[in-house]
Amino acid sequence: MENSGESQRPHLPVLYQEIIQAIQPGRKKRYVDLTLGAGGHSWGLLDASRPDGELLGLDVDPIALALAQSRLTEFGKQASTVLASYTRLSHQLSNKGWETVDGIVIDLGASSMQFDSADRGFSFREDGPLDMRFDPSSHLTAGDIVNNWDQDEIADVIFKFGEERRSRRIAAAIVKNRPFESTKELADLISKTQKGPNKSRLHPATLTFQALRIAVNGELDAIEQVLPQALEALAPGGRFAVISFHSLEDRIVKHFFRSHSRDQHDESLPFSPVIRKASIKLINRKPILPSAAEVNKNPRARSAKLRVIEKIVA
Ligand SMILES: C[S@@+](CC[C@H](N)C(=O)[O-])C[C@H]1O[C@@H](n2cnc3c(N)ncnc32)[C@H](O)[C@@H]1O
Repeated sequence: MENSGESQRPHLPVLYQEIIQAIQPGRKKRYVDLTLGAGGHSWGLLDASRPDGELLGLDVDPIALALAQSRLTEFGKQASTVLASYTRLSHQLSNKGWETVDGIVIDLGASSMQFDSADRGFSFREDGPLDMRFDPSSHLTAGDIVNNWDQDEIADVIFKFGEERRSRRIAAAIVKNRPFESTKELADLISKTQKGPNKSRLHPATLTFQALRIAVNGELDAIEQVLPQALEALAPGGRFAVISFHSLEDRIVKHFFRSHSRDQHDESLPFSPVIRKASIKLINRKPILPSAAEVNKNPRARSAKLRVIEKIVA
């Protein structure tokens, strides 16, 4: 492996070393990065599989895609990037003519770049439009939800995707005070619904903003859709690494991995025959967490959890 030097390497993404260790990149292998973002994990996979490892990277955000593309130019044809949702993984692989791959990475949620761009509307700390779309060509925005949906629908979104105990109170206040144009207006209103001092370390708008973002982008459905496609795409011995940032995401991943790591039986029949053989093994039973040093450098890493599986021959 040739070392191209620190200066070429983009800003380190969350759990960078852990991802490289999990995937164990090697020469002539094929990888997929389902969430390119700024291309940090992709860069690491390609760097560790020089000179002939190949990577396909996807993102729905054209700004992220352009940045990742420029960061990966040094790898030439080894890197290809496509503006596409990871929910279309199987289709993208057949377009590329790849039947199986040796490693897949998904790093869920919004990137720092997206959080820090006020005009994308992801952050309650910056003032911007109520947008929150990863894919700017999609139709639903956070503004559509808070300004047009029924109070009960808004409350359900905040409860289901934010696990926010104050969902009903917040939804009532939203409906009473709408329309909203900006993230700051909405965040200030949510802060006002808080009775007494804020005892949590979170800003009072954190869970509502998380919920709106998940709803706008259909994030949990997208995760459910991609997991089986990823298992299908892996070659025996191939690894799949998933970084999640909150319990709703992690729960889906944990249950899916657990269920596919065991033989499934039909308990309704005599002798409960096996109806699906285990197809993966868990590389880590407990999720891998960022080190204290990483969280210190990058506080956004604090809630990251990494789960890794390996495909076995069923
Ligand atoms: C946390 S960032 C990834 C950061 C990346 N690992 C890096 O090294 O910079 C998540 C990325 O996933 C993208 N994304 C979100 N939903 C997606 C989807 N359904 N398909 C493809 N990309 C998606 C976002 O636009 C964002 O750029």
